[in-house]
Amino acid sequence: MSQKPLGLICAIPNEIQHFGSAFEKTSEKQIAGFSFFQGRLDGVETVLVEAGMGKVNAAVVTTLLIEQFNCRVVLFSGVAGGVDPNLGVGDVIIGTKLIQHDYGMIVSDKLRTYQPGHLPIHLPTEKLGYDADVILIDKLLQELEGFDLPMISAEAAGGESRKPVITSGTILTGDQFIGCTVARDRLCNELGGLAVEMEGAAIAQVAEHYKVPFIIIRSLSDLAGEESTMDFIKFLEETAGGAALVLRRIIRLL
Ligand code: ADE
Repeated sequence: MSQKPLGLICAIPNEIQHFGSAFEKTSEKQIAGFSFFQGRLDGVETVLVEAGMGKVNAAVVTTLLIEQFNCRVVLFSGVAGGVDPNLGVGDVIIGTKLIQHDYGMIVSDKLRTYQPGHLPIHLPTEKLGYDADVILIDKLLQELEGFDLPMISAEAAGGESRKPVITSGTILTGDQFIGCTVARDRLCNELGGLAVEMEGAAIAQVAEHYKVPFIIIRSLSDLAGEESTMDFIKFLEETAGGAALVLRRIIRLL
């Protein structure tokens, strides 16, 4: 019996294009306005889909990958805004915990983040976010030890060209592009995130329902401050490839 395929999601064309010639397409299926490409990525059966941005798009395609294509793991490859001051543009993060930072209750004009689905009563603090499979993530991190990505350009690094860091930690998700240092620092301090993006924790929520593992890989295109839209435009091409290269390096372990 052949193995179930991997499901691979990107949000935008600039992210998906980095799989280019490594993805050998065998067929294509349209469902609910999304194009699902079936084929092999570096020889591994994979269904590839461009979801568009945001949590709802991500949740719909994750559900379809599992229900319609019987995917055994759901992966995301793309960019994020950096939230942790120790990380810079071009660094890559593998999510160990995915938190929906925009779900919760407004108290005194401020959002208290709750776990999705939780009532606005009884402080829902025992569990926040969705945990990735730690054993699997550890295995992937071991495989990535000594793996060098292409150098980050001096312009993207904001100084001298440097080697990208590959690390793991909490990734925050919300239906907002963050372009504000105050919001970014609050997200880092209150939720302990390394990066912020717009799909990962929605994928994790659906995957958890189905008991299917998820892997979210993000390279930093910007630092989510006031210059984030300019940096996103300037560095998207250069940085989105980092997440794709990391994913291709670990694909045989999934
Ligand atoms: N994806 C890339 N940069 C981002 C940012 N600053 N906020 C949210 N999602 C992002």
